[in-house]
Amino acid sequence: MERDSTALVTGGGRGIGQAICVELASEGSDIAIADVDEDGMADTVEQVEAEGQQALALPTDLKHLGSVEETVETTLSEFGTIDHLVNNAGIAGPTSICEDISPDEWDETLAVNLRGPFFTCRQVLPSMKQQGYGRIVNIASVTGKRPLTRRTPYATTKMGLIGFTRTLAAEVGEHDINVNAICPGSVDGPRIQRVFEEKAEATGRSYEEVRTDAENESPRRELVTREDVARAVAFLCSPDANRITGQDLNVSAGKVMY
Ligand SMILES: NC(=O)c1ccc[n+]([C@@H]2O[C@H](COP(=O)([O-])OP(=O)(O)OC[C@H]3O[C@@H](n4cnc5c(N)ncnc54)[C@H](O)[C@@H]3O)[C@@H](O)[C@H]2O)c1
Repeated sequence: MERDSTALVTGGGRGIGQAICVELASEGSDIAIADVDEDGMADTVEQVEAEGQQALALPTDLKHLGSVEETVETTLSEFGTIDHLVNNAGIAGPTSICEDISPDEWDETLAVNLRGPFFTCRQVLPSMKQQGYGRIVNIASVTGKRPLTRRTPYATTKMGLIGFTRTLAAEVGEHDINVNAICPGSVDGPRIQRVFEEKAEATGRSYEEVRTDAENESPRRELVTREDVARAVAFLCSPDANRITGQDLNVSAGKVMY
């Protein structure tokens, strides 16, 4: 990024979102963090401030329009602009065959993963249009490209998020607002390690065997890191990506190639 800028990052209290906050701060962005996890946000605030940038921790439940409205209003009154919006927050939803999923589980997954990005874009776009500039990055998944059995609600949201990205990009491009998606593969960290442990226990194999299988799904024989995803976000928010919009960029160590 060429100039001091401002970013609103959802789900910035831990995981990939926290790495995105720190990466954008290291590139000169002040960061507003929108998350339900107040302890996590406090940790991110410290890391952003250590990069010499301002940080706002804004308790937000993306399921509720009123909460998102308040967060966007506070960010604009504190920072003056929102140059970059990163829709990162997401939940895994239930792991069950379709007919065992309850309507509440379905609705909850769609509310966080799909309605959340709609609410943030809806509230942020008027100010981006007014300033004639904006970069929106939606964190989808390789599951936005291919099926993931027993995870129909999650897959539906990530495929939907790619459709939302393309359509919004077509709608707002003339205002110098770019909208892109990133599709991470399995990201190394506590969450995926727990998944491997559970799979190892369920199948009577060792943790190492399960992990090696997952790594071998990629031509590079490795998982990706949260920093890989964060650097791709920073690129899409940089002037180097000025003419890139409506795209879905895989950060999957080659696991998915379309
Ligand atoms: N971890 C992976 O392997 C992986 C792979 C592909 C895509 N993704 C996607 O990347 C994004 C981040 O994943 P992660 O692994 O860092 O997840 P995570 O669970 O570690 O973090 C998600 C963050 O979102 C917040 N959040 C959840 N519900 C919220 C709500 N209603 N309102 C506001 N904040 C809320 C959580 O508090 C948390 O801080 C998600 O969209 C996920 O689907 C992750």
